[in-house]
Amino acid sequence: MKILIPPIKCQGIKSKLVTWIAETRQWNGEGVWIEPFMGSGVVGFNLKPRKALFCDTNPHLISFYQGINSGTITPLVVREFLESEGAQLAKHGADYYYEVRKRFNREKSPLDFLFLNRSCFNGLIRFNKNGKFNVPFGHKPRRFSKAYVTKIVNQVEWVAKRASLSDWTFLHQDFRTTLARATETDLIYCDPPYAGRHTDYFNTWNETHEKSLYQDLKTTKAQFILSTWHSNEHRENPAIPNLWSEFNVITREHYYHVGAKESNRKPMLEALITNFKPPAPVPRKNTDELDNYAADALQLRFIRQKKQRTYTLENPLSEETE
Ligand SMILES: C[S@@+](CC[C@H](N)C(=O)[O-])C[C@H]1O[C@@H](n2cnc3c(N)ncnc32)[C@H](O)[C@@H]1O
Repeated sequence: MKILIPPIKCQGIKSKLVTWIAETRQWNGEGVWIEPFMGSGVVGFNLKPRKALFCDTNPHLISFYQGINSGTITPLVVREFLESEGAQLAKHGADYYYEVRKRFNREKSPLDFLFLNRSCFNGLIRFNKNGKFNVPFGHKPRRFSKAYVTKIVNQVEWVAKRASLSDWTFLHQDFRTTLARATETDLIYCDPPYAGRHTDYFNTWNETHEKSLYQDLKTTKAQFILSTWHSNEHRENPAIPNLWSEFNVITREHYYHVGAKESNRKPMLEALITNFKPPAPVPRKNTDELDNYAADALQLRFIRQKKQRTYTLENPLSEETE
């Protein structure tokens, strides 16, 4: 399955998991695809549900897609905007980035949000305690080259086309409000922030949120798929035994990067939790996408690694030579 990337990126984007989610879903598409934590929207946009409800507490993501849906943000509007703003960035460098950031924090234009998202440091989305976007410049004054602008315009065109052929709604709201709308013909795909990781003004997640999500999903009449992390080299996600193990839990290995070095490629077991029986796993060639059984074997490896780590901690010298 070829996965297309939407115009606004976010931390925790699940582009690598879309195929797995597609294979896991057991849904006839009759009801509504409900995504209470849409983030970039990459999952729903690629799966093309006929009817969908995409929601998030980040109002800037939502107003960008509301603009696409209503036709105020078109590929042409985006092209003209990025070409002219990109030329200013090339001329004035970081100073111009910070000017746009100030303007965005004052006026909240979705086009400025797109500009910042595509030129800030590492494509991060982060807001300070006053709700102001505070990510520094990504140090590329020539960021908006002709090819890069065309790439973004194509991404906008793709989402705009899909939205116009479907019945999609974008709402700025908390997950509890979104989940209250689910009925038995719907499929909910939940990808909440990971507890204890990145938090900011629009994006905090703690045990209380996780318990509240659990209560809502436990009682929903709809089917659900929840994405979460299962374990990494160092620890396991306590929410799985504490909350989610009463549902079906399937796992798969995924790699993520810490910094730019290839040697910093770290394994992580991702989990999908469902309230319906998932299909038997499809065997894969790619080791990045192991089937569930292989992933179980990996869990054992993680546990072994954990034991080694305990040993290493008792021997600080051997840690230095690792
Ligand atoms: C891990 S990201 C989702 C990533 C998305 N699945 C993707 O592939 O791009 C989590 C999203 O949840 C949103 N969020 C955080 N707290 C929320 C809440 N209480 N209700 C709804 N959305 C929330 C954040 O703004 C963020 O966009």
